[in-house]
Amino acid sequence: MKKIPLIIDCDPGVDDVLAIVMAKHVDKFDIKAVTSVSGNVGINLTTRNAQLITGLLDLDCVVARGAEEPLVKPKREAGHVHGADGIGGTFELFPKNCKKELSKFSALNVLRDTLMNSEERVSIVAIGPLTNIGLLLKIYPEVKEKIEVISIMGGAINNGNATPCSEYNFLVDPEAASIVFKSGVPLIMAGINLTVKVTLTKENLEEIQNIGSNLSEIGHKMIVDYTTDDPAIHDPCAVLALSHPDMFKWEDLHVQIDTREGFTQGMSYADYRLRIPKKPNCKVLTDIDLEKFRKLTVDSFK
Ligand code: RIB
Ligand code: CA
Repeated sequence: MKKIPLIIDCDPGVDDVLAIVMAKHVDKFDIKAVTSVSGNVGINLTTRNAQLITGLLDLDCVVARGAEEPLVKPKREAGHVHGADGIGGTFELFPKNCKKELSKFSALNVLRDTLMNSEERVSIVAIGPLTNIGLLLKIYPEVKEKIEVISIMGGAINNGNATPCSEYNFLVDPEAASIVFKSGVPLIMAGINLTVKVTLTKENLEEIQNIGSNLSEIGHKMIVDYTTDDPAIHDPCAVLALSHPDMFKWEDLHVQIDTREGFTQGMSYADYRLRIPKKPNCKVLTDIDLEKFRKLTVDSFK
């Protein structure tokens, strides 16, 4: 079966690691590159964590270091959710020397070259602040015709997690998110309006723990650590939206991002007006087959 050429831009981050594990497990992707961005923790740790999980999974892909701070807004981190190491305190469980080698090129250059050198369009899963992707689209607009779709974990419609109005990734870099949503590139958005429903049960965790491999031990520990603060498993939804679209319901909407500092920074809002409908710029995911998500998540560690 022809595999989907894919780039994963991430800020690992526990749920980012779960998304990368899922991307390998579903066996529908040719993962060409994994690029890091500052978000859940700083760029040094998100990059190291990307190297760790791609090495542990023995992915045949490039790993490249990305932006260390947002385009305009001050840097933020979420170590209280993902652990000081960014991976739920599991660093010591990774085999020594399992880190995949880091490209000598920046994430921006790897993103551009991977897209421009591909004979077919490449999909992007973007599951951290959109700084790298915003920069890419601004500096190298020629890549737009080489992108099949950008499947984003980020944003929210009528709710938030980092603030009452905003989801964390869009709060961190609203300017980058605004560039992406104004770019005209096909978008899928797995926002907090969807992912707040996406949880694992105690039985799911026991099943993962009972697998008994190094990967499942790491997965179990990091999920337990992470879910003590955030029960929702966000990032794998952006992967499954590409590999298993039938698992989801969505609405074609026009989504805009508030880039102003203050209470509504990073707020993403959909235009539901019927009188003057704006042309939709995004498939906003609204529901998920949760039992299928839970089964795929447990199976991804086997
Ligand atoms: O708001 C959830 C998102 O922010 C997830 O991508 C999580 O990893 C953090 O990056
Ligand atoms: Ca993330």
